[in-house]
Amino acid sequence: MSIQQGSAGGLPVLILKEGATQTKGRDAQKNNIAAAKLISDVVKTSLGPRGMDKMLVDGLGDVTITNDGATILKEIDVQHPAAKMMVEISKATDNEVGDGTTSVVVLAGSLIEKAEELIAKDVHPTIIVDGYRKSATKAIEILNHIAQKVDPKDKSQLIKVAQTSMQTKLVSKESHDLAETVVTASLQVSEEAGSGYKVDIDDVKVEKKAGGSIRDTKLIKGIVLDKEVVHGGMPKRIEKAKIALVNSALEIEKTEFDAKINISSPDQMKMFLEEENKMLKSMVDKIISAGANVVICQKGIDDIAQHYLAKSNILAVRRVKESDMSKLARATEGRITSNLDDLTSKDLGAADLVEERKVETDKWVFVEGCKHPKSVTILIRGGSQRVVDEAERSIHDALMVTKDVLEKPAIVAGGGSAESYTAGKLREWSNSLSGREQLAAEKFADSLESIALVLAENAGMDPIDTLTDLRSKQTKASKWSGIDARNAKITDMMKLDIVEPLSVKEQVIKSATEVASMILRIDDVIASSKTAGGPPGGGGMGGMPPGMGEM
Ligand SMILES: Nc1ncnc2c1ncn2[C@@H]1O[C@H](COP(=O)(O)OP(=O)(O)OP(=O)(O)O)[C@@H](O)[C@H]1O
Ligand SMILES: [Mg+2]
Repeated sequence: MSIQQGSAGGLPVLILKEGATQTKGRDAQKNNIAAAKLISDVVKTSLGPRGMDKMLVDGLGDVTITNDGATILKEIDVQHPAAKMMVEISKATDNEVGDGTTSVVVLAGSLIEKAEELIAKDVHPTIIVDGYRKSATKAIEILNHIAQKVDPKDKSQLIKVAQTSMQTKLVSKESHDLAETVVTASLQVSEEAGSGYKVDIDDVKVEKKAGGSIRDTKLIKGIVLDKEVVHGGMPKRIEKAKIALVNSALEIEKTEFDAKINISSPDQMKMFLEEENKMLKSMVDKIISAGANVVICQKGIDDIAQHYLAKSNILAVRRVKESDMSKLARATEGRITSNLDDLTSKDLGAADLVEERKVETDKWVFVEGCKHPKSVTILIRGGSQRVVDEAERSIHDALMVTKDVLEKPAIVAGGGSAESYTAGKLREWSNSLSGREQLAAEKFADSLESIALVLAENAGMDPIDTLTDLRSKQTKASKWSGIDARNAKITDMMKLDIVEPLSVKEQVIKSATEVASMILRIDDVIASSKTAGGPPGGGGMGGMPPGMGEM
């Protein structure tokens, strides 16, 4: 079947390929809105400390249990284009600020839902989008106004922020200790930049191993390598380590082209081998004369070189990842050498201890006790693989929020308080807008309140009662009145130490407004026919809602 896309003098004009489908106007809008709302409904129940976790099973039967918005959406294979946009915005928020990936979807879903109400009242989407954009700018202005400045080196404030981000996760019980670990790690690797600080969270290496309990999670002032010492005869423990970091092979290089060596007598054979032997020994000698007692090599180490190293009581590790090599350099203050001829004692890194230890069934090398490590490791332990996986995601969130505050030292209180206060102020401000934009601004304010509402719902509180109570406490008690989800009541969230980076709140508002605007402005969906696979919209929760695939 081909579709008629227009007519000129009674003749149909075809501009789309055979099999392509097109949804127009209201239908297209309705579809997109429905899809976006669906996505928001999926993650809604996992918002906040009383939010539920999701169990996700992928095509291979692998199970993931998580509460992380971005992870949930990544794992479900969404097909609908508008739904995909929601997933992408969650991912983008994750990359940008690391937390708030559930909130952004909830807020976007609410913005879209409220817009639908206005569209039904014949408010044009363009007006809604304009109203939303102005409201977002105003909301961010209000948030900046109420945010509290913090001293970025005030550890206790940073711990509160990190802890809040972990309160909502599986690891909430251990959140205080973990937050402390995360903050110490972040401060350790932070660097002054201009008037503030800069943190590259890649400088915090996160290793995980199932076994033990979350409480055994540790910060190592150095780097943990999931490699063993290369030779049985080498020492397994070196104190006051002097570490040569080498990124060339301790092997005889193979020639680029095939060469043939004719050997006609055993003597010649012996000479040949001895020559090789000598070359390897001279490599090891260079390491010894530089004064190293540990060698960490990015490439291979020949058996004979291993033998010589072992004889000199040098501990060696081979085939270490390039990224780990640079982390080691930052941790031990050593320099990576590519040519052993240049190796001097100045290039060596230092660590109090290098030791091979058993971690469950594996043997790992710990390079620890570095003086001023600019790269450190958090070694996560926990009851099972799924626990350590979720702990890793939570620690990622915590590292990111700590970085956020270190780089932009301002915080607001959570539990929906900052959003609800902003909503109140937005309503006052909206009076200055024209009639229809004002409607949009009011809807925007309602959407901001939806964060508190969803937190309350997830905590089993009555949404209507809570909302009225919250509004009155906001004006009469404290602007930080919010949902104390653990005790199912309304409290001053600042006093409860539930605090979040201003930059997360800003990002959530920006991203949610962006995706809602994009979705609302679409009035035409043209889908070309799939060349392979099933029909468009086939199967899955992400499948296109009815109406997308047919005309
Ligand atoms: N103890 C608490 N009581 C009430 N609300 C809390 C508490 N701890 C955190 N919150 C709130 O929970 C919300 C965050 O929930 P959650 O961490 O599940 O989602 P997210 O941060 O949006 O996304 P994600 O963490 O999945 O990236 C924030 O609004 C935060 O203020
Ligand atoms: Mg969070």
